[in-house]
Amino acid sequence: MSDTNYTLLESQLTALIGDEVDALANASNFVGLLFAALDDVNWLGIYVLRGDELVLGPFQGKPACVRIPTGNGVCGTAAATRETQRIADVHAFPGHIACDADSRSELVVPLIVAGQLIGVLDIDSPSLDRFSAADQEGIESMCRAYCRVVTADLGSEPKGSDPESAIQFI
Ligand code: SME
Repeated sequence: MSDTNYTLLESQLTALIGDEVDALANASNFVGLLFAALDDVNWLGIYVLRGDELVLGPFQGKPACVRIPTGNGVCGTAAATRETQRIADVHAFPGHIACDADSRSELVVPLIVAGQLIGVLDIDSPSLDRFSAADQEGIESMCRAYCRVVTADLGSEPKGSDPESAIQFI
């Protein structure tokens, strides 16, 4: 719904993460905060980039498909293009992957830390055309804030031995 106060949610997200450095805990709270705040959403979660696949991460909703190759479905398209996918009718999206048969519309936002794709945030609704341009803008802003925080947590250098790996971020 376009009346969601994303500015408030973003400050709540920043406060919720605080100085916590555990990436899994922070990703889980990001998902929990947003799911609790949004109406008319049946699934919300993060898929983490592992090599050339997206792998299921923290989520709220029914169990979902675990691995999505980059380029496949709405999530894989968002990952491949690094552009938000706001899909009014998932049945009209070629290659849509139906994890939850209730889903009718979907918003997928790439998560990019220091120029590196680390995963996507995926939100499904049982209603057609659930996500407005204002929702997209607000949720993209929250994702940027989240990515800034995890970057700040890690300092300027990735902690992991493999800088291509997203493991250190989520
Ligand atoms: N519909 C997604 C798959 C993930 S589920 O919605 C949780 C897609 O087409 O990529």
